[in-house]
Amino acid sequence: MWTAKKLVRAYLDFFKEKGHTIIPSSSLIPENDPTVLFTSAGMHPLVPYLLGQSHPEGKRLANNQKCIRTGDIDAVGDPSHDTFFFMLGNWSLGDYFKKEAIEWSYEFLTSKKWLGLDKNKLNVTCFKGDKDAPKDEESAKVWESLGIPKERIYFFPKEDNWWGPAGKTGPCGPDTEMFYDTGKEACGKNCKPGCYCGKYFEIWNDVFMQYNKTASGKFEKLEQQNVDTGMGVERTVAMLQGKSTVYETELFKPLMDKIRELSREYNEKSARIIADHIRAVCFVLAEGKGIVPSNVEQGYILRRLIRRSVRHARLLGIQGSFTKEIAKKVVEVYSGDWPELKKNSGLVFKELEAEEAKFAKVLSQGVKAFEKIFKKQGKISAKDAFLLYQSYGFPLEMTAEIATEKGLKVDKKAFEKEFERHQDISRKATAGKFKSGLADHSEVALRMHTATHLLHAALRQVLGEHVQQKGSNITPDRLRFDFSHPEKVEKSQLAEVEKIVNDAISKKIPILKEEMSLDQARKKGALAFFDAKYASSFHYGLLQQTDSGQGKGQGTGRF
Ligand code: SER
Repeated sequence: MWTAKKLVRAYLDFFKEKGHTIIPSSSLIPENDPTVLFTSAGMHPLVPYLLGQSHPEGKRLANNQKCIRTGDIDAVGDPSHDTFFFMLGNWSLGDYFKKEAIEWSYEFLTSKKWLGLDKNKLNVTCFKGDKDAPKDEESAKVWESLGIPKERIYFFPKEDNWWGPAGKTGPCGPDTEMFYDTGKEACGKNCKPGCYCGKYFEIWNDVFMQYNKTASGKFEKLEQQNVDTGMGVERTVAMLQGKSTVYETELFKPLMDKIRELSREYNEKSARIIADHIRAVCFVLAEGKGIVPSNVEQGYILRRLIRRSVRHARLLGIQGSFTKEIAKKVVEVYSGDWPELKKNSGLVFKELEAEEAKFAKVLSQGVKAFEKIFKKQGKISAKDAFLLYQSYGFPLEMTAEIATEKGLKVDKKAFEKEFERHQDISRKATAGKFKSGLADHSEVALRMHTATHLLHAALRQVLGEHVQQKGSNITPDRLRFDFSHPEKVEKSQLAEVEKIVNDAISKKIPILKEEMSLDQARKKGALAFFDAKYASSFHYGLLQQTDSGQGKGQGTGRF
């Protein structure tokens, strides 16, 4: 039987035979890249080498990389998306290109010596071409030469068949993706590779990194032509074992069994979320890099993953502390290949338990606040629910749950709408470092950031036009605004500033986004004192950055 262990070994052996050096997985915490929170693909730590620097291990590399994609968090619970996953990859740093990469992918997938998959069930997709890069006929020709008929070769646009850059700028290019037809009936006329119905299983992605996306959004040809491939271990093993979800494989089953055992009212989706999230947290904590649950950056992601698990455990009727029980299973299943899990298990358990206890407190505070509102009004509106969420981190679903327990009629639609609105705002606000962060993280960032603009304007109004912003620092809890002013600011002046800001907030002025050149913005009277930082994009008045989007979203079917 194909186990994950066997798949990883086969893959690395195969590429060793093809002259690759096997390199270790890099850390989940990017070492030299402040623009992202976690390593989200094997190519990530290789960016300098894809751009031309010479790698000490040569031009052909392969590994099994630990990855985290928080952008996929909403999809967790479906059969195949995880926040944490293993990705097998092989790289050519200016060495072989499309022909060899595709031929080797085909050989590994279909040869009886390797995976031995039926070549008649293989479907592939290639890049359709657009203003930035031409149609990838070259890849399609290689597939045809291997016997894949034209009707199983699809051409898709950038959203589907382009990868990278991992951050805002950097190496990227067209890709060709391989899908295995499970034999399941098509879900409709439009069912094709990339459809989520379960007919097509995405197994591998060969990216041809021949472009560099620049800060101005241009795609410049790189001097060297690279290959970057990625195969999700969990997903591929599930497929090889004929399982329809990753949770049925040996990678998850012991975790899932434990969750089922602890549950009183089992539901599969919550169990999957807990298994995925706790596994992710264990791997991050076990690295011993000093990342622990907190309110900032990677620590904040850990916090959200743990709290989300606790909330789902509640839905399963799990009482008392449970995260350690699941973490023990993670250590059991994975520490053979990842010894840091065993080595640092004490730290892993301690942090999990501490965060779990903290959240229990949040929950009880939230319940108290809920009772207070309920006593006063005799009901809970969608807005109240949202306020509870904002002030205490009290989850909306939990408010709905308690309200239902109290026999209140819960207008689920209004709740959902409120929630969607919140998520919508978050999505729009997700930018830069917060890009792959969790929804509420960026929601807070957006609010705080807008508040700094208001504060700046109010300070200038009260203290004088000489006031200039000197810096600002935003965390989910507070904002700090540094500004220039020759004297101490009086209490009465502060009160005035506060009033102006609060009045402005209560007016609910819509936030507009407008992009323009620095000169145009200056003419319009925009205030900015960070010329270098805003050299190419500019904040104007109450303007917010929105997600600029990258070549390929992270939730698009691979993990
Ligand atoms: N970077 C590409 C991906 O993540 C190929 O490894 O799919």
